[in-house]
Amino acid sequence: MTRKRVAILISGRGSNMAALIEAASARNYPAEIALVVSNRAAAKGLELANSRSIATATIDHVAYKSREQFEAELTKQLSAAKIEIICLAGFMRILTASFVKQWEGRLLNIHPSLLPAFKGIDTHVRALDAGVKVHGCSVHFVVPELDSGPIVMQAAVPVLEGDDEEELAMRVLAAEHRIYSEALRLLAEGKLTIEGERVVVAGANGDPDRALVSPRI
Ligand code: GAR
Repeated sequence: MTRKRVAILISGRGSNMAALIEAASARNYPAEIALVVSNRAAAKGLELANSRSIATATIDHVAYKSREQFEAELTKQLSAAKIEIICLAGFMRILTASFVKQWEGRLLNIHPSLLPAFKGIDTHVRALDAGVKVHGCSVHFVVPELDSGPIVMQAAVPVLEGDDEEELAMRVLAAEHRIYSEALRLLAEGKLTIEGERVVVAGANGDPDRALVSPRI
């Protein structure tokens, strides 16, 4: 099995990155984490990646005059590491349409909401304010429009009475850690086909009778 070479782009804590690294440490996982790139030198995730002996690079966006120049350096690092797939994991920079097009079908993101609901930031507060009873996370292919793009996998979690932002965020985060490595596995195994707005997942099935009901009384 030749494992796909993956770069993870982070800006902060890196818990999704850690979950991907953990998954990829299994011998039969079809991808290896070959590079972690952060746009912030202080990103906590860098320490963790270093401690797992994964190559890291910091490309501080502040040092570049334009997004294009930042991305030129990024592209250089990705090519040098022979990267085939990129996973954005809490990477808080907008990528240009040209960069995104170049990586079409090979660039994943995880977003902390059930897209297309709650695009953008502060998703958990907005979900609480909206009074939704079910919230969650989505792994999707990146397209130039922010937090859009064909959805690969989603996980739903209940919003519980009395939840605050942090409690809800932690519940969603645990679900993120579960689905990101699954989605990357499917991509690396070549099981995903993009048909317009939709991702067709080869061999996928679910339980049609199982609904997540929230609240439960
Ligand atoms: C995660 O919740 C991720 O879904 C979110 O940032 C967090 C990063 O945490 N991403 C976005 O909001 C992207 N729009 P992590 O650094 O611990 O993985």
